[in-house]
Amino acid sequence: MLRKRVLSGMRPSGLLHLGHYLGVLVNWKKLQEENDCFFFVADWHALTTEYDRTAVIRESIDDMVIDWLASGIDPQKATIFIQSHVPEHAELHLLLSMITPLPWLERNPTYKEQLREQTTRDLQTYGFLGYPVLQAADILMYDATRVPVGIDQVPHLELTREIARRFNFLYKECLILPEAYLTETSKLMGTDNRKMSKSYGNAILLSDTSEEAWAKVKPMVTDPARQRRTDCGNPDICNVFAYHGIFSDEATIAKVNVGCRTAGIGCIECKKWMFEGMEKVLAPVREKRRQVVESGVSVREILADGTRRARKVAGAKMVEVRDAVRI
Ligand code: TRP
Ligand code: SF4
Repeated sequence: MLRKRVLSGMRPSGLLHLGHYLGVLVNWKKLQEENDCFFFVADWHALTTEYDRTAVIRESIDDMVIDWLASGIDPQKATIFIQSHVPEHAELHLLLSMITPLPWLERNPTYKEQLREQTTRDLQTYGFLGYPVLQAADILMYDATRVPVGIDQVPHLELTREIARRFNFLYKECLILPEAYLTETSKLMGTDNRKMSKSYGNAILLSDTSEEAWAKVKPMVTDPARQRRTDCGNPDICNVFAYHGIFSDEATIAKVNVGCRTAGIGCIECKKWMFEGMEKVLAPVREKRRQVVESGVSVREILADGTRRARKVAGAKMVEVRDAVRI
């Protein structure tokens, strides 16, 4: 099989949770086995919204990259780096910004949505409008043909393709059109049944100890009909049962399905069974994290090495791009 160039980025958001693991990292890990992967920390993208709290960005990077390593992203197999350490991204972003029509950006659904929703921040900035142009630069820089992203990023991939097409038409066939490689979004809700997010305090973190994780699972809301142990319940409306669907085997799921409806089992018992399955996922990540931390490998060194590799590719690409633009 031909190795493909794969590229994806994640904004630095600090410690990652099970949703990141199941929705993104498991996929990256698989992809790194058979492809030429570039995974990077999108710190400039974080800056488009966090420009007035930059300390958060800096502090988040190491935590996030350690979670990548703990999840099995292997710096020997994939190139991992920080976007802002490869300044070529800024130059390509600038060149692409010259040819990107404003209406393409203004009608971008994520842009419109964020402007509406992020009422506590002023996002009427040049940089924020240009978010997808920067993303296009990230992708086109590495001739990436496969870009693993969630469905919400599809409009950005489409824009990247349109910008690349326009560049190739105006100057010279130089940029490769990428394709979104849709990763299955995690169906895991937070422990309170809202979207899993660290800021809601409803997330099981990859860095949680077994005790910490259980302390979050134990009080999870169940079917409110089960006030007493003798009340029958409906697993279909219970978040714990949804977790069983992800972490438990068929036999356990069947046992819970019947036990819940007939009040044959208690909710704590049910959660314990689910937690056993969850621990099968979390324990190896925890073990890998321990190895990473104990081995004394420096995240900064790994990133520096990745940066060197990325800059080599980016530098060569920019020679081609400048030549195409004749500048
Ligand atoms: N916008 C992406 C997100 O929010 C992050 C990102 C930045 C990205 N540059 C990228 C993803 C390039 C894929 C390719 O998830
Ligand atoms: Fe939910 Fe399990 Fe309790 Fe049923 S027994 S309500 S599935 S936690």
